Amino acid sequence: MVNGLSVVALCSALMGVSRGAEMGTAAEYASGAVHARIMSMKMIDLYHFLSHAQLGSNSARGSSSWGWTSEDGREFVAIGQYDGTAFAEISSEGKLVYLGRLPQYDSIGSNWREIRVVRDYVVIGSEAIKHGVQFFDMKKLLDLDPENPTNFTQADLTGHWDKLPVGRTHNIVVNEELNYAIAVGSVGGNETIRVRDNLPCRGGLIFLNITDPANPWSPGCAAAAGYVHDAQCLVYRGPDKRYEGRDICYGYNEDTITIYDVTNKVGNNSNIISVTTFPGAEYIHQGVVNDEQNQEFLFLDDEFDERDSKVGPMTKGLPTTHIFDIRDLENIKYTGHFVGRNRAIDHNQYIVDGYDYQSNYGAGLNVWDIRSVTEDPTGGSICEAGFFDIYPEDDEMEGGGTVAFLGSWSSYANFKSGFIFVHTIERGSFVVKMTSKECPKPAVCGSDRCSTAISGRFQESQKFCTTFTARQRDELNLVPDYARAACGGYGTPTKEEVARVSSACACIPTTPVPELPRTTSRPPVPTKLPDRMR
Ligand SMILES: *[C@@H]1O[C@H](CO)[C@@H](O)[C@H](O)[C@H]1NC(C)=O
Ligand SMILES: *[C@@H]1O[C@H](CO)[C@@H](O)[C@H](O)[C@H]1NC(C)=O
Ligand SMILES: *[C@@H]1O[C@H](CO)[C@@H](O)[C@H](O)[C@H]1NC(C)=O
Ligand SMILES: *[C@@H]1O[C@H](CO)[C@@H](O)[C@H](O)[C@H]1NC(C)=O
Repeated sequence: MVNGLSVVALCSALMGVSRGAEMGTAAEYASGAVHARIMSMKMIDLYHFLSHAQLGSNSARGSSSWGWTSEDGREFVAIGQYDGTAFAEISSEGKLVYLGRLPQYDSIGSNWREIRVVRDYVVIGSEAIKHGVQFFDMKKLLDLDPENPTNFTQADLTGHWDKLPVGRTHNIVVNEELNYAIAVGSVGGNETIRVRDNLPCRGGLIFLNITDPANPWSPGCAAAAGYVHDAQCLVYRGPDKRYEGRDICYGYNEDTITIYDVTNKVGNNSNIISVTTFPGAEYIHQGVVNDEQNQEFLFLDDEFDERDSKVGPMTKGLPTTHIFDIRDLENIKYTGHFVGRNRAIDHNQYIVDGYDYQSNYGAGLNVWDIRSVTEDPTGGSICEAGFFDIYPEDDEMEGGGTVAFLGSWSSYANFKSGFIFVHTIERGSFVVKMTSKECPKPAVCGSDRCSTAISGRFQESQKFCTTFTARQRDELNLVPDYARAACGGYGTPTKEEVARVSSACACIPTTPVPELPRTTSRPPVPTKLPDRMR
């Protein structure tokens, strides 16, 4: 509070801003215009949005997605929905152009549809019974008419694999370089329950040979370590010379990271290189290596640690990415972590050129510059380059969000154009782009320019400033005349005044996120948009 008084005054004044306003028309909502106004974003611009309905789905429920670039550089996405897979092209202006859809293989549909692309084929698995694995040639999208989106049928598949225990698979993984696919988390049961007993591959890595995509077949599986929730399978390139050029799968196996040498895929592979866990592990969900060409570190997300862990920043409900030194594959070591600003569960993350693109449920897309990890494996030097929060409904909650399964499922940032595709559970799909990849510098405290001493109301001011600086948009009309006057402004609001308000806010610490009591009950699911930032 030494330097904070005047800021407190300023921010107290700002608390009085009236922010009630209209939410926008249905058409504006559908076009994404409303999103651009209400969703907080930093260093990321929104280009386009299409709802699930506009993407041809009747279900209004999204899951995984992936991208594909044609030989002549056009950019396409395959979009997972409850009732199938939608296809769209991202135009050179960043518009999402819906082209058609492939329905689910089974008769019911599922909340879980996982999608990867290997060469020109999209590979689609689902938790639905009798779904199997669909193989669809993305080249079929090259000549479609967006005016009449195409309804593909199963007859349009290049191939289909139906030998999963009951047709269900939690996830699909591909090794693009070696051109094969892996079904993971394939268990038994029926539409209402999952059963893990009596499975030949125990829900492990089931290898699919797709050299002839019309006739996929399985040479074998890796059952020894049991259920695999997700994996990354790569040709090993890194400092551990024992494995140079081997075919490696980094398995995210619920309670452990399990590294396999899967060079031999025939029969029942049991070549496990190492099995590792970490303090506070609750559900090891997914992860990614820092650099496929030099695999030295690994970033891991745990899906339940924000709710259940009794150690680390996870006890506050903050999404925590865990870092491992994998330079010795047989003995990998936990080295540190980095933490999101707002409460959320972290979900799928993918790294492109030193940036980690995370879909963190209610926190939306978070982009981290992770290039410092090789110098500083603690994660202390990793910074957030930008974010795009697609779920404003939870922004007003304690800790700026909620530890719940809602919001963004996946993103795809591997397009040359720089467009990033963000897919969500409730809304539909967004196209965004980073305006800069440099991590924004923390605002500098400059309160001396705005001094009207009214003491007290510290927490109120702190709350306002936390929100105001988190959004960092040029919301000129949010700064009322009297606050601008305090900062020396008058007349038409200017960007500079907003900058001064931000720097004044920089003098008080952001609201600390309190501990989140450990519970196994479901957290609240907010569905009402906050009435601010019109
Ligand atoms: C595709 O299916 C949708 C929804 O059933 C329908 O409205 C549309 O006319 C179909 N498109 C074509 C080209 O048949
Ligand atoms: C699924 O299996 C359980 C246990 O056998 C049974 O109680 C349930 O009715 C089954 N559900 C369906 C949809 O068949
Ligand atoms: C798939 O099978 C073909 C034919 O047996 C073989 O040549 C190829 O190496 C296999 N692919 C993989 C990734 O094992
Ligand atoms: C593979 O080996 C594991 C034990 O390592 C066993 O539990 C499983 O049943 C075997 N699966 C097959 C398909 O042989």
